[in-house]
Amino acid sequence: MTDLPALTAQALEQIGASDSLPRLDELRVHWLGKKGVLTEQLKMVGGLGAAERPAAGARINAAKSELQSAIDARRATLEQAAVAQQLAAGRIDVSLPGRGEVTGGLHPITRLRLRIEELFRNAGYEVADGPEVEDEFHNFEALNIPADHPARAMHDTFYLDNGMLLRTHTSPVQVRAMRERKPPFALIAPGRVYRCDSDVSHSPMFHQVEGLLIDTDVSFANLKSVLHQFMEALFERSLAMRLRPSYFPFTEPSAEVDISCVLCGGKGCRVCKQTGWLEVAGCGMVHPNVFRACGIDATRYSGFAFGFGIERLAMLRYGVNDLRLFYENDLRFLAQFARG
Ligand code: PHE
Repeated sequence: MTDLPALTAQALEQIGASDSLPRLDELRVHWLGKKGVLTEQLKMVGGLGAAERPAAGARINAAKSELQSAIDARRATLEQAAVAQQLAAGRIDVSLPGRGEVTGGLHPITRLRLRIEELFRNAGYEVADGPEVEDEFHNFEALNIPADHPARAMHDTFYLDNGMLLRTHTSPVQVRAMRERKPPFALIAPGRVYRCDSDVSHSPMFHQVEGLLIDTDVSFANLKSVLHQFMEALFERSLAMRLRPSYFPFTEPSAEVDISCVLCGGKGCRVCKQTGWLEVAGCGMVHPNVFRACGIDATRYSGFAFGFGIERLAMLRYGVNDLRLFYENDLRFLAQFARG
């Protein structure tokens, strides 16, 4: 028989030196497997004399169990080391600074809308809301624009298959408000509006704020002073303001509102087309037909209404020269409004 102690010593050394679980398994098969070195030794015991067999068998079995324990111990060590290595690799240092996530900001249109809402809330106005999908009654008829009225053409309306439409202004919110509330009340209606129109200065969707105040003895002078104070508060400077006669079916008299150019101070520049004036809103006294359609006594109450586009005011206030910038979601543009 081969020198058993020498074989055992060699096996133990190899087991001790094995540096991975697959390598350790190879050794197990090599030494203890079905055709392994020690198994072969055991097979040879049968060839020995009867007197020697038990002792030889016992020695080989002792060697086998010694190797098995050594393999088990080594496996435990290697498994532990693997776990320790995984832990070390996955370790998170919670004290390290973060990766510098950038804080988002409000869209400039939203920012300006919130500011406009705040200014009117401070003046006692309520902020009202209404559906973007409207019916013809609220968007047109109640506003003194019957089906055959030429003013319908001005509105470039998107009609839906079910006879409804996308509201072309936020005036229908005011119709709803007048039918629900009892005067006196004052509200603004900010929101998205839709018109089938698209070029450098028109977008098929844009934002409006319309205002409505109803009470006894409301005058055109009240309207002018509210708008003038609002424009000065919004642009944070003194401004000249003028009203030019105009036409809206739902107001009488009606006017267009100009302020002195916020870029050149009224001297004349490219933005105001050298006139020194910027057209910023439409307004007027609520038409008696509108009161009638909304169940308000036109002999007792009077009211004013006004409306303007948020995009137009945002372009003037933030110095943006292209309307489309508001809708492209280019972060280089939006990031300029993120703070402050
Ligand atoms: N509804 C008008 C529009 O969208 C704006 C407006 C509102 C004008 C109130 C006068 C009074 O064009």
